[in-house]
Amino acid sequence: MPASSLDQVVSLCKRRGFIFPGSAIYGGLANTWDYGPLGAELKNRVKRAWWDAFVRCRQDMAGLDTAILMNPKVWEASGHVSSFADPLVDCKKCKQRFRGDKLLEEKLGVEAVAVLKIDQVQPMLLAENIPCPACGSCAWTEAKRFNLMFKTHQGVIEDEGSLAYLRPETAQGIFVNFKHILETMRPRLPFGIAQIGKAFRNEITPGNFTFRTREFEQMEIEYFVDPSGDKKMHFDEWKAGVWEWYTQLGIAPDRLRVREHAKDELSHYSSRTIDIEYAFPWGWGELFGLADRGDFDLAQHSKHSGEELTYTDPDDPKKKFMPHVIEPSFGCDRTVLTFLLEAYTEETLPDGESRTVMRFHPRLAPVDVAVLPLSKKEHLVAKAEELYKKIVHETPLTVDFDVTGSIGKRYRRQDEIGTPKCVTVDFGTLGEDEKQGDKDTVTIRDRDSLEQVRVSLGGIVDALSAAR
Ligand code: GAP
Repeated sequence: MPASSLDQVVSLCKRRGFIFPGSAIYGGLANTWDYGPLGAELKNRVKRAWWDAFVRCRQDMAGLDTAILMNPKVWEASGHVSSFADPLVDCKKCKQRFRGDKLLEEKLGVEAVAVLKIDQVQPMLLAENIPCPACGSCAWTEAKRFNLMFKTHQGVIEDEGSLAYLRPETAQGIFVNFKHILETMRPRLPFGIAQIGKAFRNEITPGNFTFRTREFEQMEIEYFVDPSGDKKMHFDEWKAGVWEWYTQLGIAPDRLRVREHAKDELSHYSSRTIDIEYAFPWGWGELFGLADRGDFDLAQHSKHSGEELTYTDPDDPKKKFMPHVIEPSFGCDRTVLTFLLEAYTEETLPDGESRTVMRFHPRLAPVDVAVLPLSKKEHLVAKAEELYKKIVHETPLTVDFDVTGSIGKRYRRQDEIGTPKCVTVDFGTLGEDEKQGDKDTVTIRDRDSLEQVRVSLGGIVDALSAAR
């Protein structure tokens, strides 16, 4: 069973060094989070698994890493300056501000609210008698459109001319490099461009840990296709491929669902969008979005920049056209949070003891192997250190070395951080106690089955590598 409450995971994350509250020694900064040593490793592994699956192992994909600060004209062309806004309502009593649609969504569900117009938000809040989450009164102002882009200034003079935005999506860095990719990589349609990077949105109501924050990471792909071809086929292939990626890495299919956006709910650039949602402890929430952006972005950038952004068919150079785009867009932090929630398990063992175990997929677990000397005896620790060095040098595995506390406590600690395998070096290994095992053998303990097998030191690297 995954975590039943978000608090279980928030507390484990802090206790074990996955995720800490941001700026904590100064009293924090609301809704900011810092990834600790294990969280940074987990997140890197998620990004690596994503890059491997969708970029490195595919002939039709190219990767990018573009600047966060872009010419402000990019955001005029993309429609973000005029359209990237949420409905903001104020509580007349306590003056706190909220996203009106989200307040309604909590009571009525996503579908009922998705098609709402801005001038319907306040009447509906009042009709449904939805109270202010801060003070409990029901006195709402009319909803206003609030642009979510963070503004900043480039250089030493803070005027309109130096205005810049922190990018609210990584996608635009891809569109503005479309021509460079055509010229340097000479790709044939269909092909995709991918990047992972930070995005910023001045969300009105961030919350639920790292689910909705103002600074977050995205993993995005713009997949360019021939508009006269079978766009639906590409759309369906991406939907299936993404579903498979999540489920192969351990998300139970019955905690995922696909939600098709209603026509009135679509973003300004999209003619069709589906979300893959996860059953978070507070309800279904968006994990991933797949949109048919048509030629909206290339056409807009072509118009605003004056550059020709077309593709020439290499088999028929007279055939020039603007490709259409299918966009698979993943939230990296939401994906990490989902893997954390899904891995979290509390269970009672056959011996009656209880444990918390993070059942991460072996590719995602931040530590692959822990080497544990059975006792603190110097010559036993030295033998275990020798083994630690061998595994580190002969494999790409991340290895922890722990001598502190009873072996039972150390197993529990490794279970809590999700280490798939523990290797115990004992007096049998040294040839000093036959009952513990044969000389030059060690015990490998499996995190999930708790099975313990005796393996020779000569075969340990193969045994651990095969387990991954
Ligand atoms: N380029 C398309 C785009 O940005 P989106 O649905 O606005 O589409 C894509 O965002 C993904 O980014 C979402 O599915 C979600 O996982 C993640 N995301 C969006 N806003 C977020 C936020 N404030 N905090 C964390 N993740 C967020």
